[in-house]
Amino acid sequence: MPTTPEKMTKYEKIEQFVKGFKLSSLTYKRVMHLLNDEMNNGLHESMNYHADIKMFPTFVRALPDGTEKGKFLALDLGGTNFRVLIVRIDQRDVDIQSQTYLIPQRIMLGTGIQLFDHIADCICRFIRDHDLKDETIPLGFTFSFPCRQEGLAKARLSKWTKGFRCEGVVNEDICFLLHEAMKRKNTTTVDVEVVAVVNDAVGTLMSAAHTDRNCEIGLILGTGCNACYMESLKNVGLWEGDYEEPAQVLINTEWGAFGDNGCLDFIRTEYDRELDTYSINPGKQLYEKMISGMYMGEIVRLTLERLSMEGLLFESADRDCELFHRGRFFTKFVSEIESDHDEFFRNTKQVLDEIGVTNYTTEDCNIVKYICTLVSARAAFLASAGLATLINRMNKPEMTIAVDGSLYRFHPRFHNLMVLKIQELIKKGLKFKLALSHDGSGKGAALVAAVAMRLRDNKQGECST
Ligand code: GLC
Repeated sequence: MPTTPEKMTKYEKIEQFVKGFKLSSLTYKRVMHLLNDEMNNGLHESMNYHADIKMFPTFVRALPDGTEKGKFLALDLGGTNFRVLIVRIDQRDVDIQSQTYLIPQRIMLGTGIQLFDHIADCICRFIRDHDLKDETIPLGFTFSFPCRQEGLAKARLSKWTKGFRCEGVVNEDICFLLHEAMKRKNTTTVDVEVVAVVNDAVGTLMSAAHTDRNCEIGLILGTGCNACYMESLKNVGLWEGDYEEPAQVLINTEWGAFGDNGCLDFIRTEYDRELDTYSINPGKQLYEKMISGMYMGEIVRLTLERLSMEGLLFESADRDCELFHRGRFFTKFVSEIESDHDEFFRNTKQVLDEIGVTNYTTEDCNIVKYICTLVSARAAFLASAGLATLINRMNKPEMTIAVDGSLYRFHPRFHNLMVLKIQELIKKGLKFKLALSHDGSGKGAALVAAVAMRLRDNKQGECST
């Protein structure tokens, strides 16, 4: 007999509000089927225009082979920080010096001119501070937003994601905008030539592939979530380049947009819907919004808020505290709370103190931790369903997946949860490894630039003989 609401225990009542986070293996398999279909649509020439997952060919055809050499500048733009790096590569040895600059919110939401002028300012400061003079330095630009590439160094922004909305950049070639901004500065003693634009997922893959030849998938679990993988040219209907060997190209999937056509509505909870409604880009990046670091804290906050409103949590909490304000519960709190392993809840209490919740009980701490584990496990499992889809598509006996991003790095259980779920979802007999990639955005961009220079030098060599 079903329990009537009056007879339910507190925990049974809580379950009613959180059961949507618990999905069965069958459901994850359904997500995989949908994702695979959407990826095929994205790769298809005539369907791509309407497809949510854009599957952009990157023009990266070759992975590093360890013979790369040279000095490169690298830029890394994809979140609230902007980094400039000087990367010296000597075969397997890589030396990096870098500087991080803040992108203020007014610039993230300002005009493209302001954004690129700010970037050019930072580059000039870096060049001055690092005493780089009288040279032409090839530059790799990690630009971690969806771009339709027309060449290795020509990339048009297709839309902004992750809290950016600079006017006048969508559909523009970002290398051109950068060169123009550098020209406006007209003070630098160094000539900067952008030789490659890469996405952070691509950089992550390149960086790991430098030492691991089995690495053919790159994954980002940070502010955003995205993956790239090596695809045979024969499957890429969109491809407009040549078909010379190697007949393959890295595809930047931009899978964060999965579900934007409503196909994931069957798993979205009331909290996902509310988060989306109040986001800067409603209806967009719905898969990413269930997984990545920019959103996970807010999903937890909305759930805690709901439980508190229902009288199931924080009975005497002050309604004015941070918990009841949008965007004030950060994903790093989820990682901290889940790192508590005993009944003292040291981290959980610290977080609750920080967000101004008073008079909480040990039972409250337990519930808060439980909600964090549910939301993060769903995120890890959804990302695993994505990876399993790629692993099955590629169907290679052994595969390394390069992973980077703050969520993966700092969350205590993400790696293990993913390994178990992927194992469950992939075809029997396929083996995989998740490997943390180091400084994909910096080293990776420089390596793409280095590979491009190597291939360019080889071509020039061929022409002059
Ligand atoms: C967003 C961007 C994508 C990037 C990812 C991770 O999904 O659209 O380009 O790779 O975030 O930073």
